[in-house]
Amino acid sequence: MSLVNTLDLTTVARREGFAVAAVNVVDDLSARAAVFAAEQAESPIILQTSVKTLRRAGVSLMSSMLRTIATGASVPVALHLDHCPDRALISEVVTHGWSSVLFDASALPFDEAVGQTGEVVREAHVHGVTVESEIENIIGVEDGIGSDEALHSYTEEELAEAARVSGADMIAPQVGTAHGMYSAAPQLRFDRVAKLVSLTDRPVVLHGGTGLSDRDFRRFVEAGISKINISTALKHAYMNAAREHLEEAERRRRWEPTALFDQVAEAVTAVVGWHIGVFGGHGADQHWSAA
Ligand code: 13P
Repeated sequence: MSLVNTLDLTTVARREGFAVAAVNVVDDLSARAAVFAAEQAESPIILQTSVKTLRRAGVSLMSSMLRTIATGASVPVALHLDHCPDRALISEVVTHGWSSVLFDASALPFDEAVGQTGEVVREAHVHGVTVESEIENIIGVEDGIGSDEALHSYTEEELAEAARVSGADMIAPQVGTAHGMYSAAPQLRFDRVAKLVSLTDRPVVLHGGTGLSDRDFRRFVEAGISKINISTALKHAYMNAAREHLEEAERRRRWEPTALFDQVAEAVTAVVGWHIGVFGGHGADQHWSAA
């Protein structure tokens, strides 16, 4: 197993009735910890980065680091660029062997969003890269991208038609979730997912996974979601483990960076493993191998 396309993974997930965990990683430590969780669960996984994380490391370094981790894995791994409104960055990424990108056109009016998404799709497909499309905005600001206001909302028919016209491979609709922690109970739209899934063969993606209950996740998967994004939960696991380690190091006056890395990795593996299980991913790499 190794580096695979996100569309292949999500197509199999859609057919088999589970969702692939798509986790936002920030460095080699979190990426390897996430892959380790997937290997333990015998599940495929999607490693994704925010634009901020990618810019921080640089496209070249991040691409070669993630590709090395993906190709060494014993389960299928896809590499995905999360929410990117920057066409120039997408052009750079598609030449560096990523599996897919999310072109975030949610700030644009409908016709412009569909037109630009179509251009991105044509460019990405030349390089074998698939495209997730977002033309309604997912509420919340994540790593500097997004808005707390709903900018555009469309009918499920309009979303399906927009993807057909642009040729987008996967669709990220607004279904009541939000990036980050929830301050109030979200109004989740399982019905919207089910309707959209009935109108298109394209895999449908859930954003804003952190803070949902296992029951919510299962209902979204039953409604037809094929990829679920988790970011904030990994950040919290990472930082809380680091804090606990540093407090203990201070108390014991023992300063060992590799022990810090191990504790952080263990926490990230645990949180990713939990999500894979809830999304129905355990043992799912067999479906993919048989595809
Ligand atoms: P959370 O940060 O709420 O998990 O959302 C992740 C996400 O949707 C990334 O695109």
